[in-house]
Amino acid sequence: MIRIAPSLLSADFSRLGEQIDVLEKCNPDLFHIDVMDGHFVPNITIGPVVIRSIRNCTKIPFDVHLMISHPNRFIKSFADAGSDIITVHAEAKHNLDETIKLIKEYNVKAGVAINPDTPLSTIEKVLNRIDLLLIMTVHPGFAGQKFIHDVVPKIKNARNIIDTEGLKLDLEVDGGINLKTGKIAVDAGANILVAGSFIFKGNVKENIEQLRKVGK
Ligand code: DX5
Ligand code: ZN
Repeated sequence: MIRIAPSLLSADFSRLGEQIDVLEKCNPDLFHIDVMDGHFVPNITIGPVVIRSIRNCTKIPFDVHLMISHPNRFIKSFADAGSDIITVHAEAKHNLDETIKLIKEYNVKAGVAINPDTPLSTIEKVLNRIDLLLIMTVHPGFAGQKFIHDVVPKIKNARNIIDTEGLKLDLEVDGGINLKTGKIAVDAGANILVAGSFIFKGNVKENIEQLRKVGK
């Protein structure tokens, strides 16, 4: 079974609570929340204050994607705000092992993300310690970009390693996911699809249902 994680970045922030209500009725598996610091990526979004306030609106788990330069400095804030999964980038300025340990100390699931140009070998040694591997299918920073097809072999390799080594972690893809690219990613081995623009354009419920079907 694949899981669907709508990215709140494409929601209308002037009525975030209402948008979460609409989404919740569509049975998403996770809410994907994109945190950007204007330094690790050339865009700024939201932080723990907003996460804490929307935490009261829903019980759906929060999949918090930290696109920030020094994630280790903010793990406590994001854990306290109500994150269920905290994903940090391998390319950020931190000791990845220590940050993973820190996330787990707060009883939050730990994820590691890699950019399209970052090889799997960079993070292979931590795979047995994390709950989620996020393979970026666009360069992080903005919603609405085109899926980078060159990343597909990396998704396949990751699935191969996970299955061969019997690892228990989710393989998530993020960026440019629609019905066509979602199917490509799932066929390559992804089991969580993050989608922003695709889900919020038109009928949200139908879009989530259709996206879920690419896994069947
Ligand atoms: C990009 C973010 C994504 C983005 C996805 O940096 O990590 O989660 O919001 O949006 P779409 O689905 O529009 O590419
Ligand atoms: Zn994201």
